[in-house]
Amino acid sequence: MSKVGIVFGTDTGKTRKVAKLIHKMLDSEDVAKPININRCSIDDLLAFDKLIIGTPTLGEGELPGLSVDCESESWEEIVDDIEEADFSGKTIALYGLGDQEGYPDEFVDALGELSELFTDAGATLIGRWPNSGYTFNNSGALDGDEFVGLVLDYDNQSALSEERIAQWLEIIKPELGL
Ligand SMILES: Cc1cc2nc3c(=O)[nH]c(=O)nc-3n(C[C@H](O)[C@H](O)[C@H](O)COP(=O)(O)O)c2cc1C
Repeated sequence: MSKVGIVFGTDTGKTRKVAKLIHKMLDSEDVAKPININRCSIDDLLAFDKLIIGTPTLGEGELPGLSVDCESESWEEIVDDIEEADFSGKTIALYGLGDQEGYPDEFVDALGELSELFTDAGATLIGRWPNSGYTFNNSGALDGDEFVGLVLDYDNQSALSEERIAQWLEIIKPELGL
């Protein structure tokens, strides 16, 4: 079993693309191929001690697949299982995709939801990211001046994304043992 898992939810595929890019950039046998959360059981998640987990925000600040119908029904099946599971001893880095111009009052809110979900389940979160360089009114993913994970906006700042991912991976790699 690889040590680091990469898991994503998605609606239109951008978060999957980022998962694949992260896998490629990490370029390590210790990192498993990305898995879609809609094909992932709680045991699949718990099999990893270290995880990178990504999600877009849909609806009005929602995780895909909860109150928002989405083709892949991303998180719907597994959220209750995560709430009941024990993630203590697990290290998790989160990333979120959103649209700061289209949804300035709910920017990457689902990233905040994931942070709460996994923190409550006992996980240690790593990979916080500064909020400078983004323009929005409100975000459920903010804690002080930092986001609780990497924030990517392919709708408005596509050209910045790859460099942001590269910088973030350099920050989290040592904590993932890579
Ligand atoms: C119907 C709809 C609702 C959205 N709602 C939000 C939102 O509340 N907050 C936000 O930051 N982005 C929102 N977005 C933007 C998506 O999160 C963004 O386009 C993301 O890159 C999609 O990723 P995916 O291709 O992996 O599904 C919304 C997009 C759509 C189509």
